[in-house]
Amino acid sequence: MAADGFQFAFTPEIEALTLPAWEKVKRHVTPMEWRLQAPLIAEINRLKREKNAVILAHNYMTPEIFHGVGDFVGDSLALAKEAARCDAAVIVQAGVHFMAETSKILSPEKRVLIPDLRAGCSLASSITGADVRLIKQRYPGLPVVTYVNTTADVKAETDICCTSANAVQVVEEAARLWGVDRVILIPDEFLARNVARQTDIGIIAWKGRCEVHERFNAADILELKAAYPDAEVLAHPECPAEVLEVSDFAGSTAAMNDYVLKRKPKRVVLITECSMADNVAADAVDTEFVRPCNLCPHMKRISLENIYEALVHDRYEVTVDPAIAERARLAVQRMVDLPPPAKPARYDLVKARHHVDVELI
Ligand code: 13P
Ligand code: SF4
Repeated sequence: MAADGFQFAFTPEIEALTLPAWEKVKRHVTPMEWRLQAPLIAEINRLKREKNAVILAHNYMTPEIFHGVGDFVGDSLALAKEAARCDAAVIVQAGVHFMAETSKILSPEKRVLIPDLRAGCSLASSITGADVRLIKQRYPGLPVVTYVNTTADVKAETDICCTSANAVQVVEEAARLWGVDRVILIPDEFLARNVARQTDIGIIAWKGRCEVHERFNAADILELKAAYPDAEVLAHPECPAEVLEVSDFAGSTAAMNDYVLKRKPKRVVLITECSMADNVAADAVDTEFVRPCNLCPHMKRISLENIYEALVHDRYEVTVDPAIAERARLAVQRMVDLPPPAKPARYDLVKARHHVDVELI
């Protein structure tokens, strides 16, 4: 049943239409749940065609969204690139508010909708544009590299954006272009510390944290490794450095996905948001997933029901002040225009470095 009370029937036609998605989600969704979800999925997909809309779904969306209605799925970097590229009239962002703002910044002519305006992010709310102006006064001449997990206001004060997939490359590129040996990398303290372990560029960092990844610690990972000695541990670089130090690999959500699909480990642990493993597992049938994980309450505000309502009622539109958007676009576009990194970002070279130069503001 949709949230507006409309009841859709699970007819044989709907069952046939949604069979490919069912094949992907059946390890995580019960047949009873599917009888309710499948008609909604079919209706959302029909509405998308009617309204010339696409759904950009982040890797942390639940499997029925990710596999059922997502037109483009991936990490923050892939979704930003897709927003710039796609030619739909409407983008429905199945993700959080900063992602919808990024889409609007890159595609001002499109209508960008987010199904729940409360889908925020602890990193994005840790810093304001005014904070960045103060930082720039304190460190004149240093380039400002900002994680995409920030508001448009913050991006407008930024020289170049980055994501977890390209942060090392962006930091080194910014230092080269500005002719300096230190850069400002905000607002994620842990991402900044993990990047600093891979480069000789000094980093000025801010004390923002991802509320999902900051809760992991090295002791839990070591306990897991003791219980499952053959499991390969993959951690997101928003985790504390101590977690990466005892992990086998670290990278963005897309890098984790690639690792599992290409290397086909027998057993794996993904130290990140809970839906990530569910979505990768659909295609990694020979891998067993050990599942300690933390839920992101912001990502989990997005549901099939509110995606359906977003399309029916054309809500909730995300707008960005054009003057802010114009300045923010420069920073995001610089990132989008970078060539793909020569090798994928890996943050687990931690052990190799002795000196890590981070100044925390
Ligand atoms: P990536 O998808 O870029 O790895 O980011 C993870 C995240 O926390 C997004 O909110
Ligand atoms: Fe923000 Fe962390 Fe949630 Fe991503 S997982 S939206 S970084 S709080």
